[in-house]
Formats: sequence, C-alpha cells, structure tokens
Amino acid sequence: MNRLVFLGPPGAGKGTQAGRLARSLGIPHLSTGDLLRAAVAARTPLGLAADGHIRAGRLVPDDLVLRMLEERLREPDARSGFLLDGFPRNLAQAEALERISPIDAVISFDVPSKVLVERLSGRWMCPKCQATYNLASQPPKAAGRCDRDGTALVQRPDDRPEAVETRLQVYAEQTAPLLDHYRRAGLLRPIDATGTPDEVARRVAAASGGPAPPGPERSAQSL
Ligand code: AP5
Ligand code: MG
Repeated sequence: MNRLVFLGPPGAGKGTQAGRLARSLGIPHLSTGDLLRAAVAARTPLGLAADGHIRAGRLVPDDLVLRMLEERLREPDARSGFLLDGFPRNLAQAEALERISPIDAVISFDVPSKVLVERLSGRWMCPKCQATYNLASQPPKAAGRCDRDGTALVQRPDDRPEAVETRLQVYAEQTAPLLDHYRRAGLLRPIDATGTPDEVARRVAAASGGPAPPGPERSAQSL
C-alpha cells in the first residue's frame, strides 16, 4: 500500500498529514501545489505560466501540471511508492494518472467549510522548507519564525478571502466528483479530518494501513 492519493478541499490538512505519513512510510510526499510554488519562486517558465492561476485560486492548466508530475514520478525515489497531495484534481488528471501508474488507495479528507476557512486564515508557512503552521492550532515556537530554519514565515497569496472562495468553488465543481470516481473503483477511504492533527494522523494511519504515526514533529512538506 505505497501508492497513495490524498484528496480533500483546501485547508483540509492534506499537507500536514502527508508530511507525517510519507516520513513514516519512507515514500516521497509529492504535493503539486508545493512543486508549483517552487517553480513560481524560481521564476521558471512553468512558474511564470502558473503564477496568475494560483493567485486567483484557479487550477493550473492540466498539460503543465501533468508534464511536471510525470517528470517527478520518474525520479528514482518514487519507484517504490509515493504520496500524491493535491493531484489529481479533476477527471482528466485522474485518467492521466491511470495511464502513468496504478494507485493503491485514495484517502479523502472530510472537513466542514467553516473549519476550512478558519484553518486557512490562520495558516503561515516557511518559504524555504515549506513547513506549515497555524496561529490557532500549530503556532511556531518563536513568533513569525520557522522552527526548523528560523526563516520569516509568510502567508500564501491564495489564502486571501477572495482566492479561498474561488478555491472552494473549484474544489466543489471539479475535484469533488472524483470522490464518486474512486468510490466506484473501490479505492476510496474517507476519513473524518476534524479534531487535532494527532487525532487525524491516527485515522490516516488506519486508513492507509501504515504504521502508527510519528510524534508531534512539525510537518515539513518535503518534495
Ligand atoms: P495546493 O497547494 O494543493 O492547495 P490546496 O489543495 O488548496 O490545499 P492547501 O494546501 O491549501 O491545504 P491542505 O489540505 O494542504 O492543508 P494544510 O495541511 O496546509 O494547491 C494550490 C494551488 O496550486 C491550486 O489552487 C492550483 O492553483 C494549483 N494546483 C495544485 N495542484 C494542482 C493540480 N493538480 N492541478 C491544477 N492546479 C493545481 O492545513 C491548512 C491549515 O490548517 C494549516 O495552517 C495547518 O497548520 C492547519 N491544520 C492542519 N490540520 C489541522 C487540524 N487537524 N486542526 C487544526 N488545524 C489544522
Ligand atoms: Mg497543501
């Protein structure tokens, strides 16, 4: 059970839990959002093409995302498994993934919209190592600084209220239909993703058939 997909709305806790589970399973955590943000920061052609879509909360065009993901999945560390976070996000991407690799399970995160908005409005992240914090639930030890490398934390431009509204709408229209797609394929494992990160980690571990989750170490979203 080493080829996993995390499916869930913005702010559901996918990145937080993916860092922990991938570490405990010894597989790479592949977040298309993190990969795209790294491309934006490096001002690559992909990053320049993706930036406006991300800021507005819209999906980046499928051909760009697919090329990036296929390239990443060809790297040696992904041969024995991977945890996909934020991909696929529509039916075309799910069908493309089926042509690239089989998957073992899709863990879907169930969280009410009100909680999503609260989590996103309090999120801060490290632009250097991608570690994620939350002022309400997972504050950094020193205000405004990353626990790991001391870098000044930033808010994501797409966590502005207007962009959050678009992201929630895009999720409902384009991504949520994948729940039925994977349910029909017998791959869907829904979890209640409310409660503390540790409580959610236990449900994720049970759903993935993985080992007990590691301790409360900060979730760094390794690429
Ligand atoms: P992406 O980076 O994937 O963003 P997202 O799906 O909108 O999800 P988030 O990263 O915002 O939330 P999360 O579920 O990871 O939650 P987190 O753990 O951070 O995508 C961004 C953009 O990139 C897209 O809008 C699109 O433009 C583009 N893109 C990416 N993939 C694409 C694709 N495949 N195709 C096309 N375009 C694509 O947690 C959120 C907050 O809550 C944090 O502060 C955290 O500390 C806190 N928290 C987590 N768990 C808990 C808990 N249990 N209790 C309390 N607080 C918690
Ligand atoms: Mg994320």
